[in-house]
Amino acid sequence: MQSSLITGLRSVELGVVDIAASEAFYTGAWRLSVAARDGASVYLRGTGAPHHLLSLHPRSSTELLAVTLNATSRGAVDTLAQRIADKGGRLEAPPAAITTPGGGYGFAFRDAEGRRFCIVSDDLRHTDASVVRDKPERLAHVVLNSKDADAAMNFFTEVLGFTLSDTTRMMHFIRCNSDHHNIAFAFSKETTLNHIAFMLPDWESVMTGGGRLRDAGYPIEWGVGRHGPGHNVFAYFIGPENLVIEYTAEVQQVDASYVAGKPEDWKWLPGRLDQWGISDAPSPRLKEAQTQIRFAAE
Ligand SMILES: [Fe+2]
Repeated sequence: MQSSLITGLRSVELGVVDIAASEAFYTGAWRLSVAARDGASVYLRGTGAPHHLLSLHPRSSTELLAVTLNATSRGAVDTLAQRIADKGGRLEAPPAAITTPGGGYGFAFRDAEGRRFCIVSDDLRHTDASVVRDKPERLAHVVLNSKDADAAMNFFTEVLGFTLSDTTRMMHFIRCNSDHHNIAFAFSKETTLNHIAFMLPDWESVMTGGGRLRDAGYPIEWGVGRHGPGHNVFAYFIGPENLVIEYTAEVQQVDASYVAGKPEDWKWLPGRLDQWGISDAPSPRLKEAQTQIRFAAE
């Protein structure tokens, strides 16, 4: 079933120890812009319409505060809240007006592994949306390490209306719009953040971004390459506070005719981890960083 209630991934809300350092990085080499401030918190946008892609909040340790999804309408928010509550998701409160920057109407819930998601409709959209070479437009996807990725995939497809796009031996890729994936649940022993991917306009911007980040002291930790599932061009970096971030482009657009692949459908030549075969394997420090950041405790 293609989701008719959730339209996409809007933003990730992140607790950081050093807000000034993260803001400098994300508005500098990473090329986001400040959309709003609220006390010590900073909301960062891309060139697209979403109010923000990443918000930074002061915390004593680096932690994921929420992954925020957009819904089609207030009615969709209400329907999803009811469905989630009925199927074991834990709502913090009934849907209501949101008073933090971006606004809108929505609610937050915890899934079975304690991950916090927000679902929002009628939030602010920028009227100057554009596509600019070398600048992130929007989020592409988040990958979440999961103790029970099968259960997470089932919850998101059956309750939230996502569609399974592919399963590899590493993860389930799911979508709520024409992007091949907006979320992936990786098979893991821990419930942690694997990485956040930002959509660039084209592969040239991924290549140029790789050089710009290297100049800034953040070398490519995996890539540049082209993924199997999603067919997207990628480059992975370790940002401030060990957050794993990806520049990506050319994500495959799919519709209801797309047939979900299984692990045996996604095999690479020996020694290769991408379709081109020009990238080395992920660096050991990337693999380590991809397991470290947790959701804030309830
Ligand atoms: Fe990715």
